[in-house]
Amino acid sequence: MKKATVQAGSNIAFIKYWGVSDAEINLPLNNSISMTLADAYTITTVAWDDGTGEIADGEPLHHDRIMLDGKLLIGRATDRLTDHLDRIRKLAGIDLYARVESKNNFPMASGIASSASGFAALTVAATEALEMELNVTQLSAIARRGSGSASRSILGGFVEWEKGIDNESSVAHQLHPSEHWNLYDIVAVVSSAEKKISSASGHIIANSSPLLDGRINGLECALRDVRTAIDERNLEQLGPIIEHDALAMHSIMMTSDPSLFYWQPGTVELIQSARQWRNDGLPVYFTIDAGPNLHLICEEESVDEICDLLLKKSFVQQVIASQPGPGVESRSEHLF
Ligand code: PMV
Repeated sequence: MKKATVQAGSNIAFIKYWGVSDAEINLPLNNSISMTLADAYTITTVAWDDGTGEIADGEPLHHDRIMLDGKLLIGRATDRLTDHLDRIRKLAGIDLYARVESKNNFPMASGIASSASGFAALTVAATEALEMELNVTQLSAIARRGSGSASRSILGGFVEWEKGIDNESSVAHQLHPSEHWNLYDIVAVVSSAEKKISSASGHIIANSSPLLDGRINGLECALRDVRTAIDERNLEQLGPIIEHDALAMHSIMMTSDPSLFYWQPGTVELIQSARQWRNDGLPVYFTIDAGPNLHLICEEESVDEICDLLLKKSFVQQVIASQPGPGVESRSEHLF
């Protein structure tokens, strides 16, 4: 059996995915736009056991064997991943177990979405190992089922995920390749505590917030303006829209039932600092995912200064800067 290894970058959304119309297949309430990251990625190797155990030291597999960052996953920890492998087994019409090894080049607790890069890499490695011929659109639809944002990590550069109306039409496409604009995402880690409520649960309760409709109603305009700002590489136009959308998403989170509150004191201090730095003439804007860490978006010439300013804050544990990167890519060196 063939072994396949794939690298996929995580991504940061400028217009967020928050809320689902169909949780079973991760059909989102709105289109989202993101940038795939070059410097925060997952590498995954997959091989399917044909019954000989050749891929697992001669021992035939009786279940999927999954290692993540050097640790063998057991029990419930494997559920989301084996569910995803089940989808691929069903699609391929096979009844084989897989050996999977995966590693992230960024710490899991850094606030960078490992599910986006992880499910994108798993989807492509698992289907490539079966020599299935799928185009990026089909791969995006499959990755979406593992984690919505993974649909965007299949593609590189600047990406839009069309909400679609069913499993086939809810897919991502590239707006511009990574070379289009050397924008940076600098993640300031203010807390590495695990989040108590997963984004999967958050998407389901989003419609309990009275603020949901307000955000959705304004999104057509915001999406159009973000596309134009990216087309024109205009940070001054992009920045205010992405800040507004992150705050709108967090307002929905805070006013959902149950209420989700991801911010820490450091989150608020950094929001205020980013605004102050901007008033002082530094072009920098923030966005925040489902966690407390701030993502600062800026152009190349401001990266060093922003990293220095962030590292002066005693509560900032770590700073990770990334440029836009490619979509999923096959690798010839395998992890096993
Ligand atoms: O793909 P999920 O289910 O982890 O959801 C991602 C949600 C956000 O990161 C908060 C927003 C986004 O569009 O990436």
